[in-house]
Amino acid sequence: MKGKVVLVFGAGSSGPGWGNGKAAAVLYAREGAAVVAADINLQAAEETCEIIRREGGVCEAYHADVTSSEAIKAVVGKTDELYRRIDVLHNNVGITGMGDVTEVTEESWRRVIDTNLTSVFLTCKHVIPTMQKQKQGAIVNISSLASIQINQYPYLSYYAAKSGLNHFTRAIAAQYAPDGIRANAVLPGVMNTPLIHKQIAGQHEDQAAMLRARNAASPMGHMGDAWDVAYAALFLASDEAKYITGVCLPVDGGKSCVGR
Ligand SMILES: NC(=O)c1ccc[n+]([C@@H]2O[C@H](COP(=O)([O-])OP(=O)(O)OC[C@H]3O[C@@H](n4cnc5c(N)ncnc54)[C@H](O)[C@@H]3O)[C@@H](O)[C@H]2O)c1
Repeated sequence: MKGKVVLVFGAGSSGPGWGNGKAAAVLYAREGAAVVAADINLQAAEETCEIIRREGGVCEAYHADVTSSEAIKAVVGKTDELYRRIDVLHNNVGITGMGDVTEVTEESWRRVIDTNLTSVFLTCKHVIPTMQKQKQGAIVNISSLASIQINQYPYLSYYAAKSGLNHFTRAIAAQYAPDGIRANAVLPGVMNTPLIHKQIAGQHEDQAAMLRARNAASPMGHMGDAWDVAYAALFLASDEAKYITGVCLPVDGGKSCVGR
């Protein structure tokens, strides 16, 4: 990744510890990339940048809500101004919304689709022209195993959004392959990141019950972590993956191989 510019949306973490976006941003920097860390929570993005700078890396933090085209355009503009190129676009932002069809409000449905799916349409819309000019670029979308497998949670809108994100990824991979732009998705299974304590814990009796259930859902008997997702993303973004595009890669300890 040396000499490359990586733009990560959702580069913070929704709590203490390592989220998928935070780990990916730090890993890109460790491999030599200059990172632009955007997040709706500027302080969280700044924390990621602090870690990168402490390790001797390069990082700039910006506030951006990925549901806003204007906000994304502004961050892409700043990145362009700073570096005149964007080699990797990493879309990490994702939220869940619990409830089946009869329970989910229209507002919640729209929020989940906007945040998980429309957001990636918008970041790609603003970044792809730069990649086309360079005749080179890699897009990594963080989807979910829930895009291909129904699990223990009733998050209908999340299933739909992430499944849409997979096919969106394949469509742009095919469309922009002649421009030297690759697009791939990572499908994390049950991961132990701060997000689950905020967004999933309410589905279980208590935190201990959540951890037990999630560990049991993996054939390996334990959840994965943010670094498992980050290393997969790093590979897909790297030149070593130069002939890989349109792939939706489960990082799930084998969960996609079993029906649970
Ligand atoms: N943790 C898991 O078990 C798991 C499993 C499958 C998929 N995923 C996916 O991984 C991704 C997130 O993982 P994470 O651990 O980094 O989560 P996280 O919640 O720790 O980090 C996401 C970051 O996105 C930011 N964010 C939220 N809404 C935003 C918005 N509208 N605009 C800009 N930034 C926004 C948050 O502030 C946070 O810093 C999501 O796409 C999620 O669906 C996670």
